[in-house]
Amino acid sequence: MTLNVIILAAGQGKRMRSDLPKVLHPIAGKPMLGHVIDTAQQLGTVNICVVYGHGGEQVREALSAADLRWAKQAPQLGTGHAVLQAIPLAVPPAPTLVLYGDVPLIRASTLQRLIDAAGEDKLALLTAHLDDPHGYGRIVRHDGKVTCIVEEKDADDAERAIKEINTGILVAPTEALARWLPQLGNRNAQGEYYLTDIVAMAVAEGMEVVTAHPDANWETDGVNSKAQLARLERIHQRNVAEALMEQGVTLADPARIDVRGQLICGRDVFIDVNCVFEGRVELQDGVRINANCVIQDAVVGPKSIIGPFARLRPGTVLAEDVHIGNFVEVKNAAIAAHSKANHLAYIGDATVGSRVNVGAGTITCNYDGANKHRTIIEDDVFIGSDTQLVAPVTVGKGATLGAGTTLTKDAPPDTLTVSRAKQISLAGWKRPVKAKKE
Ligand code: UD1
Ligand code: CA
Repeated sequence: MTLNVIILAAGQGKRMRSDLPKVLHPIAGKPMLGHVIDTAQQLGTVNICVVYGHGGEQVREALSAADLRWAKQAPQLGTGHAVLQAIPLAVPPAPTLVLYGDVPLIRASTLQRLIDAAGEDKLALLTAHLDDPHGYGRIVRHDGKVTCIVEEKDADDAERAIKEINTGILVAPTEALARWLPQLGNRNAQGEYYLTDIVAMAVAEGMEVVTAHPDANWETDGVNSKAQLARLERIHQRNVAEALMEQGVTLADPARIDVRGQLICGRDVFIDVNCVFEGRVELQDGVRINANCVIQDAVVGPKSIIGPFARLRPGTVLAEDVHIGNFVEVKNAAIAAHSKANHLAYIGDATVGSRVNVGAGTITCNYDGANKHRTIIEDDVFIGSDTQLVAPVTVGKGATLGAGTTLTKDAPPDTLTVSRAKQISLAGWKRPVKAKKE
């Protein structure tokens, strides 16, 4: 074990005005608490304990996939009381890191610096210098050495003038923490058991108190409202966009891309504005994503062109040089090289061969109201516009389907199949005229 991690997640988050517990509100489609857990897991072998309270069962269910331990805090009597609930689950001699479920953008590199500063026997605080320190606990120093933390509500004027603030994140020797927490009192302005009071205890014992700082101040910003959630979402998306550009991806506007999952890009990928990527999406070399596309759990083969206004849903696998154009939806379908569906189509539960042309308005009727069925379109097929393929159905290699065909039986290869009624023109037919009112 390299590290114990205690994540505080018991707060109600009243200002979110939501039935969803605060720490489950998403950043990039993932609960804030999930981001904190993922970051903690980047630190090595970690023993993570989440302190939960309000909406507790919902929080546990949402994070049930992760390897976590849980400690309930009810009632909530302050941050020191919260850590006290989890400390029996921490295993010495590994130190304990305290994180917050509503501080989602903290980075592993910053935490590693804090852990390194703490070593085995020091108390390490993550602090920041703010122009406006209002509301935060202040770091009080004498001769440069930290002596205590004073909360805003308990501070005098001189203390309130201090601009070095407590982010709340700290690393402490686990045995010392377990010894200090039961000794905390609540005789302060808020009547709470303050975690921050352990600093004075450490100093009284002669333990060294050290500090480290985040690379960027937004790393330690907490979320208490929807406005703050939205602000951190934008910061997160900007970070993702910067990482993509760093890898060589061209973004028409880094402020207009949303990645809610893992976006893997090859060389010379271009992404136009207002595209949303969800789940695991892979864009291979030379892919072009035009404006206003929504792509989820899909693989886009090299040199393919998607959009504008295309939607690729889970299970879409496109090979090389595939074109998916305006208002085309693809779901659970494999489309082989050089095939095109350029306008207004639905391709679902389908296997499409190479060099296939899917005409405008083509629909795979994959759902009979109860079950889903597959459509198979072999190589070199030409599908005329406004065709319905009623699955299960197969279109043989080289077949042509006439426009307006409703295909209910397999179409033979290298043959024209048409299902429409014969066209007739009625000589002498007159358009109806509007009846005159008497
Ligand atoms: C705390 C710090 C303050 C620091 C600030 C940074 C203390 C006493 N103060 O103040 O020095 O500048 O964070 O944002 O620690 N929580 C629980 N159970 C509780 C109380 C809180 O789980 O009983 C959780 C909350 O959900 C929240 C976090 O702990 O995520 C911080 O609690 P909050 O009461 O908001 O602390 P602050 O007053 O902001
Ligand atoms: Ca408080």
